[in-house]
Amino acid sequence: MKPDQEVLISGKNITKVFGYGKNKNTAVDQVNFNFHRGEIISIVGESGSGKTTLAKMVMGLLKETSGDIEYKGKSRKLKSHRDRKAYWQDIQAIFQDPFSSFNLFHKVEKLLNDCIELQGLKLSKEERFEKMKEACTFVNLKFEELYNKYPFELSGGQMQRLMIARIFLLHPKVLLADEPTSMVDACSRSTILDMLLKLREENNMTIIFITHDVGLAYYVSDTLYIMEKGKIVEQGSADSVLMNPQHPYTQQLISDVPKLHEAWDLG
Ligand SMILES: Nc1ncnc2c1ncn2[C@@H]1O[C@H](COP(=O)(O)OP(=O)(O)OP(=O)(O)O)[C@@H](O)[C@H]1O
Ligand SMILES: [Mg+2]
Repeated sequence: MKPDQEVLISGKNITKVFGYGKNKNTAVDQVNFNFHRGEIISIVGESGSGKTTLAKMVMGLLKETSGDIEYKGKSRKLKSHRDRKAYWQDIQAIFQDPFSSFNLFHKVEKLLNDCIELQGLKLSKEERFEKMKEACTFVNLKFEELYNKYPFELSGGQMQRLMIARIFLLHPKVLLADEPTSMVDACSRSTILDMLLKLREENNMTIIFITHDVGLAYYVSDTLYIMEKGKIVEQGSADSVLMNPQHPYTQQLISDVPKLHEAWDLG
């Protein structure tokens, strides 16, 4: 599937500075991006390069020090509760640490039901139950076994799949996935990726993967952004960036993955 030409989210000169004086740290430095509808983007960079900080600004969870983020061609306003609620209906995230994404005092049933309520659908109890079951089946979880559990009673992999079940229910326009497979084994990893790719096929979702795994980025993405020390040092189609890297940092990243094609040629 090819992404649309329509730019859904764009950033101009996005900068985030943490701390002051001697402790000043420019985590994201004058970053520009254009994410299109239906596009799969990977932001690749080593630990500490600013990927999560950038993701949090795109989500509106962290305020940029300077720069402008536009959504659907308009400068994004997130002042009121109403603005934020509307934005988060369209943009959802899965973070590295799934524990931080859930209210730990809510059982699985409520966590999923909240997603249905958020959309303002008027459904009967049975219809809601069916939808929650369908979402769990999509991610290979058994709703009957989990609905009465708290998030901390689930394994890391179950939590990550539960997060994808929520995405299934919310069907956002944009999904930001920050190391979404960090807590699962290699087999579940490709299953999780396939689930996300299927969601994109069905909903024309824009997916932004954040990872330091170049192989994974190549396997899933249309477009790559390579980050080093807060800056985007290279960007372009996954093929052009990885087959013909221009920047020394990208060349270094790739030399760390000598068998890129073989490792990710999953048939
Ligand atoms: N809340 C914060 N306060 C101060 N400094 C922060 C904060 N969050 C991140 N940083 C700093 O910003 C820089 C970028 O961190 P960030 O978490 O964005 O990196 P990352 O690319 O996501 O790394 P990783 O691959 O390890 O997740 C780091 O130097 C980090 O210490
Ligand atoms: Mg991170």
